Amino acid sequence: MPLSTAQPEVNIQTEGNIDYVPRLGTIIKKVPMTHMEALFEIRLDDGSELGHKPGQFVEVSVFGIGEAPISLSSSPTKKETFELCVRRLGNVTSKLHKLNVGDKVGIRGPFGNGFDSEAIKGKDLLFIAGGLGIAPLRSLFNYVLDNRKDYGQISLLYGCKEPKELLFGEELILLASRDDVEFRSTVNWCPENEVWTGNIGVITTLIPQIDFDPEKTMAILCGPPVMYKFVIADLKAKNVPDDHIIMSLERRMKCGVGKCGHCQINQIYVCKDGPVFNYSKIKGVPEAL
Ligand SMILES: Cc1cc2nc3c(=O)[nH]c(=O)nc-3n(C[C@H](O)[C@H](O)[C@H](O)COP(=O)(O)OP(=O)(O)OC[C@H]3O[C@@H](n4cnc5c(N)ncnc54)[C@H](O)[C@@H]3O)c2cc1C
Ligand code: FES
Repeated sequence: MPLSTAQPEVNIQTEGNIDYVPRLGTIIKKVPMTHMEALFEIRLDDGSELGHKPGQFVEVSVFGIGEAPISLSSSPTKKETFELCVRRLGNVTSKLHKLNVGDKVGIRGPFGNGFDSEAIKGKDLLFIAGGLGIAPLRSLFNYVLDNRKDYGQISLLYGCKEPKELLFGEELILLASRDDVEFRSTVNWCPENEVWTGNIGVITTLIPQIDFDPEKTMAILCGPPVMYKFVIADLKAKNVPDDHIIMSLERRMKCGVGKCGHCQINQIYVCKDGPVFNYSKIKGVPEAL
């Protein structure tokens, strides 16, 4: 029997189905930050706002290569564009780093639960970021600064391995001059050819430098897996209740929407149920931390 040459009608419907079909976005700004990270500012080509919550992520496609989950790094108060701080690591992120202003990417999302900025209103906030963990926290941090009167005392502790790895350096300098934010930074070590006048030591060495009331404070954490264990132990030693500790977790992801199971920890889909979790809900799940 001869094969039919008739082509099926392909009707890609993106409206209402943005979970599966990438929207086109254009890189409108690219700022190199370190030898490994760059900040990309992106605008959706259909003119719509992304409409994300702090702490959510998008799946970014680099055409012909693949997709990678990347956290939104800008506050939702910045509406027409959004920012992604991307570390060059493997196929997708290396190719993304080679793209320039005017180049196109695909965007699915925003995905994940994000931080509940309403639930933490009126609280004192203690942000603790390690390395690239500053990227998702910046989205909430800048949101809080844009709504400063809704929140109590705000502190940011930020640590990275060495001075040349520091992200968002210029913003941090401005932050240090504000009198309504406590900011402390640290590096694990400082090579002889680099300049660093701040604290030297792991991030937990900053916790005793901040005065906070554990009952009024929500601690918001994001960093490499090893950081959580030590930071949580120190927060608990300061009597911070378990349910006052919020963290953003990272797992290998593919679909981003709870279908493929790549990010699954027991019954939890990190992409859908997270990536933001209250410590009191996951402390009994050993694989989570
Ligand atoms: C919710 C979420 C938010 C993220 N936010 C950011 C962000 O803001 N900025 C950023 O630069 N990266 C972020 N990542 C990590 C980023 O998704 C990976 O670095 C990226 O997928 C690597 O893709 P690739 O094709 O470049 O590298 P690949 O070739 O896929 O991998 C390169 C190496 O990285 C490892 N790897 C890949 N993905 C992960 C992962 N999720 N965790 C640990 N190791 C991994 C691989 O095993 C391999 O060793 C996030 C990941 C998740 C799940
Ligand atoms: S990434 Fe597919 S289920 Fe979470």
